[in-house]
Amino acid sequence: MCGIIGYIGKQKAAAIILEGLKRLEYRGYDSAGIALLQDGHFEVAKKAGRVEGLIKGTGAQKLAGTTGIGHTRWATHGGVTDANAHPHISSDGRIALIHNGVIENYAHIKKFLLTKGFTFKSETDTEALCNLIAYHYQKEPAAPDSSRFLESVRKTLRHIEGTYGIAVLCTDCPAEIVAARKGSPLILGVGDGEYMLASDVSAIISRTQNVVYLKDGEIVHMTAKNFSITTLGAEDVSPVVDTITWKIEDSELNGYAHFMEKEIFEQPAALENTMRGRFSEDGSTAQFGGLNVSAVDLRQVDRFHFLACGSAWHACLVAEHLIERFARVPVEVDYASEFRYRNMPLGNGTLFFTVSQSGETIDTLAALREAKRKGYKVLAIANVVGSTIAREADGGVYQHVGPEIGVASTKAFTSQLLVGAMLALYLGRMRDMSFSDGVEYVKALKGAPDLVRQALEAAPQIKAIAQRYAHYHDFLFLGRLALFPVALEGALKLKEISYIHAEGYPAAEMKHGPIALISEQCPSVFFVPSGEMFNKVVSSMQEIKARKGKIIAIATASCDLPAGLADEVIRIPECHEAVLPIVATVPVQLLSYYIAEELKRDVDKPRNLAKSVTVE
Ligand code: G6P
Repeated sequence: MCGIIGYIGKQKAAAIILEGLKRLEYRGYDSAGIALLQDGHFEVAKKAGRVEGLIKGTGAQKLAGTTGIGHTRWATHGGVTDANAHPHISSDGRIALIHNGVIENYAHIKKFLLTKGFTFKSETDTEALCNLIAYHYQKEPAAPDSSRFLESVRKTLRHIEGTYGIAVLCTDCPAEIVAARKGSPLILGVGDGEYMLASDVSAIISRTQNVVYLKDGEIVHMTAKNFSITTLGAEDVSPVVDTITWKIEDSELNGYAHFMEKEIFEQPAALENTMRGRFSEDGSTAQFGGLNVSAVDLRQVDRFHFLACGSAWHACLVAEHLIERFARVPVEVDYASEFRYRNMPLGNGTLFFTVSQSGETIDTLAALREAKRKGYKVLAIANVVGSTIAREADGGVYQHVGPEIGVASTKAFTSQLLVGAMLALYLGRMRDMSFSDGVEYVKALKGAPDLVRQALEAAPQIKAIAQRYAHYHDFLFLGRLALFPVALEGALKLKEISYIHAEGYPAAEMKHGPIALISEQCPSVFFVPSGEMFNKVVSSMQEIKARKGKIIAIATASCDLPAGLADEVIRIPECHEAVLPIVATVPVQLLSYYIAEELKRDVDKPRNLAKSVTVE
């Protein structure tokens, strides 16, 4: 969380930084601020609230200077106030700094700095870091300003426990930025006569597609003409410049009211991109270019262990169901945050998968590192190319769905479902799945984008339902087998963006507690598939109806629901069981979206949330 950006070049930095901050705002929107270097002093504007409020309230866009930094905050240490907004300025006025991460030993550093005469204006951990750089800078007055600046950052970071992505300015070095990262993302954009820094590519893509993905423990020293990268140990690093394939249009609304809406409707194309080139020539299985595990080694795996957070964790639960069903290999799924601290017995034949849209979620990254430390191979399913999880994994699968900007995951989630379904196929075909079953499975996956298109056609009906149901305060989402995680996802979507209390349960489990919530005031959303589970789910619906609970049924086309059982019926097409979770997700995404819209919620930036959770 928190977005950081820096610019150094010939253009006016303020407009570029503020534009970048708007694109980074999904990472946190408690406060925003910028600092520019102008004639040997800092021009600073910062304010609690959104970037728009910063512009309107402070005139930040008018600040002069061609070197500057900007920040959008997701509060950790210290409340949402102007004083806690970044950038922070050292008490001697020489250093300005923005920070994404958490400085765990800040109290100790602050205590030390107070004895050295430094003062503090905020409650943040960041200010300790800023003053410590100023302290080290003051200690070396004989060195030339530029190297002194770089070394003071290096020395400071050697004393830091915690995580950081930082960008630092110094009044003595009018055209320089020093930046560094450990545990928080940071990329360097290499433009035409200019350089930029950002937490992710969306902030800089309008100016350059050439980027250097900085690694943990690296420090970049930039001037308008060049840059150099070194390590905390002062060793030189040869930069590798990568080209971003995302286009600027990918991160614009293009006529949609919200990114979430755009991303829901982009799903057919997103699924096509995820599966492109990933089926075998004989059309009977999936293929993955980057797994870096041979078929022979995969054949030896006797357990898959999936680690993720949030919606990605729900996607893992669906993958568990499909891999166990089609490949007959046991699968374990853990919240990444729990796995880190559990000490569970792990077998030798286990292969780990971490799943993360952003590739930066700190708990997922830490779980990946823990599994690697234990000597396991860890693969990643990630969307953001070059992200830390993608780079630290031993191999994996990129989702290729383009930038997902709405805080609530939509197209990235269904794409993760698709990758899970493809893995189940691939692993199944290596084991007991027949050629003809494989061919049928592949056909079904290839048809998924069209089925999602059909499911999206229910949007006007779902909008009308949303308008009728937006005033309820509690919802249950109920599904069975692979649709149980979809029920969890439906409940999460509703909570995230409309702030309505919702719970997901396996439909039959509802009798063991949640049924106590049922009344006319608590509607239930049921997933109703045709086939062996149909009668069971209908029985659960009857139990709700008997207690006067309202029912919204999301039913596949051929389900013959008893008349009057459901108050609302949303139809989805019949589909293969590997595709059903993907198609069934669409109505609950739309339902949450339209309810949130009806309630006039801030759909793309729901309160208290951030898209990329880079603090523990
Ligand atoms: C945040 C987002 C969720 C997302 C989760 C995991 O909580 O709001 O939408 O599912 O992080 O993110 P990741 O990038 O690791 O998939």
